[in-house]
Amino acid sequence: MLCNEHKVYQAYNRNGVKKNQKIVSKAVKIDHLKFEFVRKEKQELTSNNNLANRGLNTKLTRLGNNPRDFYGFINPPVVHASTALFPDYDTMKTRDQKYTYATRGTPTTDALASALNNLEGSAGTIIVPSGLAAVTVPMLAFAKTGDHCLIVDSIYGPSRIFANSILQRLGVEVEYFDPHIGDGFANLLRENTSMVLIEAPGSNTFEMLDVSAVSEASHQVGAVVMMDNTWATPLFFKPLDHGVDISIHALTKYPGGHCDLILGSVSANERCWKQLAETQLTLGVCAQGDDCYLVLRGMRTMGIRLKQHEKSAIKIAEWLSGQKQIARVLHPALPADPGHELWKRDFSGSSGLFSFVLKDASDSQVGEFLDALELFGMGYSWGGYQSLAVVVSTKDRTIAKAPEGGRLMRLQIGLEDTADLIEDVEQALTKIT
Ligand SMILES: Cc1ncc(COP(=O)(O)O)c(C=O)c1O
Repeated sequence: MLCNEHKVYQAYNRNGVKKNQKIVSKAVKIDHLKFEFVRKEKQELTSNNNLANRGLNTKLTRLGNNPRDFYGFINPPVVHASTALFPDYDTMKTRDQKYTYATRGTPTTDALASALNNLEGSAGTIIVPSGLAAVTVPMLAFAKTGDHCLIVDSIYGPSRIFANSILQRLGVEVEYFDPHIGDGFANLLRENTSMVLIEAPGSNTFEMLDVSAVSEASHQVGAVVMMDNTWATPLFFKPLDHGVDISIHALTKYPGGHCDLILGSVSANERCWKQLAETQLTLGVCAQGDDCYLVLRGMRTMGIRLKQHEKSAIKIAEWLSGQKQIARVLHPALPADPGHELWKRDFSGSSGLFSFVLKDASDSQVGEFLDALELFGMGYSWGGYQSLAVVVSTKDRTIAKAPEGGRLMRLQIGLEDTADLIEDVEQALTKIT
């Protein structure tokens, strides 16, 4: 990319110093700016190199792109592209240039991938069009006929639909396991177990897993371990540090943070990177610049947003635990939760999504409760700035069913004032008593 420095040189040479005194003084001024520019660029490089020792929020304000790559502007450009031109036939033949075609990445997709590599500690990251694609693409990358695949029963529902349809059609045997299986997990592994897909805490029922133990056992038979890490984000849990090979995110949620995009990422260690990247290229499942830009922008504030989601969600979860209409609250950061010890051991925080059981509620009472909420919207997805409430079903599961005693409801706690949210839930609960 042509940077300021090159442009300055071009202007200087084109105009010629001796021909016109006015131009000479302008050129000298520009030359001075050029010096400033080079000096600052060096500082920038130094500070980027030092990011490894900085706090997470500091990192989030710098990761991904170097402003000096594009005239010093803080944010990276949104590259709308298909074709990248080659300067000559030789370069086209050898493809010896950074960008060759937009399905293979652009400066915008690379900026986001590079930020995620830094946060995940991964060898490489692919950006795909949705969180669901972030589950299906790595599974397609490692699936082959005759394989056996283990999936935690509390996996995100649509991931299960993919496994039960396309994976099985490809001749992969899919087996679901209890998130509470503990040491028994090792007994499920077979010689042909090639993939293990986990999520912790589990979708909607929020069971915790011993990720390191699952990874270690899986590697004994050579299986690739993949984890949907959307709930914790890489700020609260880094799967690759716990032996996981592939970390999956619905960037749609906290990284985007504003309910205005759908995007996913898959970050792999050295072992899996090449095969993952090749599969993405082969499938042509690539992301668009506008969405990548929005996620990168969202990530600048993700640390402080997450802290607020966390604080507010814990306060509301604790409050709900004391209400007579609630049979149980499912949130691993609550000391009474069965997954609390594992969560405390491995995670450095919790996000804003949890469930609760509305005691003995009939379907019409569920409806009355949801309809009465004023601040909580009724809608799917989560991770955005607005609070949401839904009733969830575990009908598709075989093991990790919802607790008994009522209907399972899921809350996504947004960035509204906590007191307002509690007041809203309180008044809605009175409607069903
Ligand atoms: C845990 C989890 N993973 C993946 C996804 C899929 O993300 P997307 O909506 O971007 O496809 C979701 C969506 O709700 C999710 O909850």
